[in-house]
Amino acid sequence: MPTVTKAVIPAAGWGTRFLPFSKSVPKEMLPLVDRPAIQYIVEEAVAAGIDDVLAVVSPHKKAIEDHFDRSKELEAVLEAGGKDDELAEIRALADLVELHSVRQGEALGLGHAVGMARRHVGDNAFAVLLGDDMMHPDSPLLRDMIRATETTGRSTIALMRVPKQDISLYGSAAVEPIEGEESLVTVTGLVEKPPADEAPSDLAVIGRYVFTPDIFDHIERTPPGRGGEIQLTDAMASLADDAGVNGIVFETGRYDVGNKTDYVRAVLELALERDDLRDDVLAVVTDIARREGLLSGGDSA
Ligand code: UTP
Repeated sequence: MPTVTKAVIPAAGWGTRFLPFSKSVPKEMLPLVDRPAIQYIVEEAVAAGIDDVLAVVSPHKKAIEDHFDRSKELEAVLEAGGKDDELAEIRALADLVELHSVRQGEALGLGHAVGMARRHVGDNAFAVLLGDDMMHPDSPLLRDMIRATETTGRSTIALMRVPKQDISLYGSAAVEPIEGEESLVTVTGLVEKPPADEAPSDLAVIGRYVFTPDIFDHIERTPPGRGGEIQLTDAMASLADDAGVNGIVFETGRYDVGNKTDYVRAVLELALERDDLRDDVLAVVTDIARREGLLSGGDSA
């Protein structure tokens, strides 16, 4: 049975939904309070037992590699200034994981981006984490998915129920229950961004995957699909037909940071969970709610 210790983070897309921000800064570097989204994602992978991460980047995404690199100059400045906490945090970040990168010269699609990882991953099962989907640090999802692949020997994808009218924004999965299992299901079909009335279900494919290495053969055989891109969903549908794919249905803990409203919710919720920020941020939110007429009584700031 496979063991999963490697992860791939595709981060070479254009991020057109987050322009103009994403013109010069990768959207994976969007700040969630004071950490970029990709740091949360790497921390999630490490917490699930991953010790080797490959970022698939484009030529414009040096900031991602720099973020996880050692910066001797910055460390010297912090040391000279007696900023011990900041120094410890910066050093811990550089020690977090072995981060490798590979360039996807042209953004030919998510399937193509994952295919770029073949040489690095070799004949091992591996996780894929997308920067658009941020999981709350307490979420057990990735750990559960890795355990599922390690015990069944099959690839495992993450599925979340969404309102039927929203399914056209996602890959949609047809599934069958597995006897004796609560959240683990068999995936019997997958369609990328179907119109709501043609979707096989309201189960959306979310950006966490644990693949067996045979996914690479399916990616190589996948022709360009929707939008002219090599779609990971098409390669997964072919893998599901051939070797079988399981899904884990989960309900909570996901932020769609590619969606502007959900991005703002993520920033607020993560700030409210921090002892150093909670009171001040709560005061700001309360004040806004009062100004907007959503709260009555009390003093307004
Ligand atoms: P998206 O389609 O959400 O990202 O791909 P995008 O293309 O950057 O964004 P929009 O749609 O233009 O706003 C999901 C993930 O796959 C990566 C993206 O960086 C993102 O993390 N991706 C996509 C690649 O690495 N390469 C590609 O060719 C396409």
